[in-house]
Amino acid sequence: MEARLDVARVRGLFPALADGYVHVDGPGGALLPEDVARAVGHALRMPVAERGGVFAASARAEGLVSGARSAVADLVGGVAGGVVLGASMTAVTYSMARAIAKAWRPGDEIVVSRLDHDANIRPWVQLAEERGVAVRWAEVDIETGELPAWQYDDLVNRRTRLVALTAASSAIGTCPEVPEISHRAHAVGAMVYVDASHAAPHMYLDRTALGADFVALSASKWCGPHVGAVVADPQLLAHLHPDKLRSMPDKVPERFEAGAAPYELYAGVSAAVDHLAGLSGETTGSRRDRLRASMGAVARYEGELFSWLDQALRAMRHVQVLGRPERTTPTLAFRVEGMRPRQVAAELNRQGICVWDGDAYARELFDAFGITEDGGAVRLGLMHYNTPDEVGQVIDAVAALRPRPVPR
Ligand SMILES: Cc1ncc(COP(=O)(O)O)c(C=O)c1O
Repeated sequence: MEARLDVARVRGLFPALADGYVHVDGPGGALLPEDVARAVGHALRMPVAERGGVFAASARAEGLVSGARSAVADLVGGVAGGVVLGASMTAVTYSMARAIAKAWRPGDEIVVSRLDHDANIRPWVQLAEERGVAVRWAEVDIETGELPAWQYDDLVNRRTRLVALTAASSAIGTCPEVPEISHRAHAVGAMVYVDASHAAPHMYLDRTALGADFVALSASKWCGPHVGAVVADPQLLAHLHPDKLRSMPDKVPERFEAGAAPYELYAGVSAAVDHLAGLSGETTGSRRDRLRASMGAVARYEGELFSWLDQALRAMRHVQVLGRPERTTPTLAFRVEGMRPRQVAAELNRQGICVWDGDAYARELFDAFGITEDGGAVRLGLMHYNTPDEVGQVIDAVAALRPRPVPR
């Protein structure tokens, strides 16, 4: 039988929900369950020193790092030795990009997509400019919000070094056909760098099935602390040579991790993956098995709630939802006739509903929609802790929105 999500039980795991707000701001950063906060607090209270010493407090740091690596590896179907940890997805992508780009030569090409968060665009574009590499753009179909896979037939060729794309847009929800696009990229010998930051809390991820050479993640999007990660094959990482200090280990993945690490936050990363794995209530099997069951239950639960929300908003004459992707996470962006997105967000806030407004860091996408100068859009997304009652409140609040005169 398919596992189901018991949302009442799940909500009990989140002390932050006691603030009484309707949190549909998850795509910008999810709430943290008690277990994650407790794990971080516990690590802060223990003697934890730097790694590499002969004493217990140093060994404890080592344990926290290897625990976080194993957890992240389980989350995406990688191996612990291929998990690079860092301050944020943006930070790890910047440094990984610098290491990858060392092999680029003038005349090479890369492909980025206009669907992506800027963290999976700008590092590549900036390095391409530095190294005389051409940037080719995968475009979004503005009607549907899709990133058509067929365009990659023309975008990639023997000069392509890298294809960077998202597994799911945190702005409008679209899930591109990553395996198909990876297949095209690999056929010409290009590497594939997939941003799974937003996909991770909504679906079961499998790095091999995605065809991703690199999977980038942001733990704060999946109920973890502010930590970023990139997962790759350790053998691939061994071919990359980031800038590093002399005393830093040369082994993989440590060679990518400059400076002292936030060990206490790494305790929270492990706890966050355990939280996701425990969502279905299943207690047997490996953590990866439990993740499969839990993420299936999450996807079914969120999918049902989201289609209600999505259909209700689309039926409102004063609301314009951006795109209409077929495969999507429970995330959408919308505009309200006669109101700036900031006004809408402020009005919803008055009703106790938290949403983001602006460009969701997807500046290329919002430029393509032609709405950046106009305040972007309101972005809302469901998480496994949202309820039908909350979705009803959101629908009623958006339905009641009426333009107000903008104060001068
Ligand atoms: C899809 C996506 N990618 C990347 C990022 C950047 O993550 P971080 O804040 O860890 O750098 C975000 C953050 O909102 C995101 O939504």
